[in-house]
Amino acid sequence: MIHYLPLVDATLNAASALLLMGGYYFILRKNIPAHRACMLSAFATSILFLVCYLTYHYFHGVTHFPGHGPVRTFYLSLLGSHTILAVVIVPLALTTLYRAWRRRFDRHRSIAVWTLPLWIYVSITGVVVYWMLYHMKFS
Ligand code: HEM
Repeated sequence: MIHYLPLVDATLNAASALLLMGGYYFILRKNIPAHRACMLSAFATSILFLVCYLTYHYFHGVTHFPGHGPVRTFYLSLLGSHTILAVVIVPLALTTLYRAWRRRFDRHRSIAVWTLPLWIYVSITGVVVYWMLYHMKFS
């Protein structure tokens, strides 16, 4: 059961990225209910990801990347930027949601333009890190 969690994590990251892009598409078309639904679903998906991620690492510990050379450097810089921005995104996402909840949409927009691309970056790099760690072939 626990061995499926990395795949579950990657799927949740991919779902989160798609929901965020969908939410952006809808707000550009002034569809506020659909924007709201997508963004709240992306938030729920990311919370679920965090629960699965922490569960996996609690039982399994750290998985080391087997590659060497340039691919390892690339992997570590991707993982580093992913991890740092994943921490940064928490207060950004909470503030963005809080401002929407208080209906301060002008201030919501001014922070959301930072939150959205960073959150999408974190979600997509989460999928790439998973793929490199579990599916990349080394001779
Ligand atoms: C953390 C989740 C959210 C993110 C990342 C997000 C992202 C964004 C972004 C990037 C924009 C600016 C679009 C543009 O004009 O280029 C925007 C605008 C807007 N969002 Fe959100 N949003 C989130 C949650 C919500 C929620 C829950 C609502 C609730 C109704 C909401 C309502 C709005 C409205 C009304 C605007 C238009 C503001 C304006 O242009 O004056 N958003 N959002």
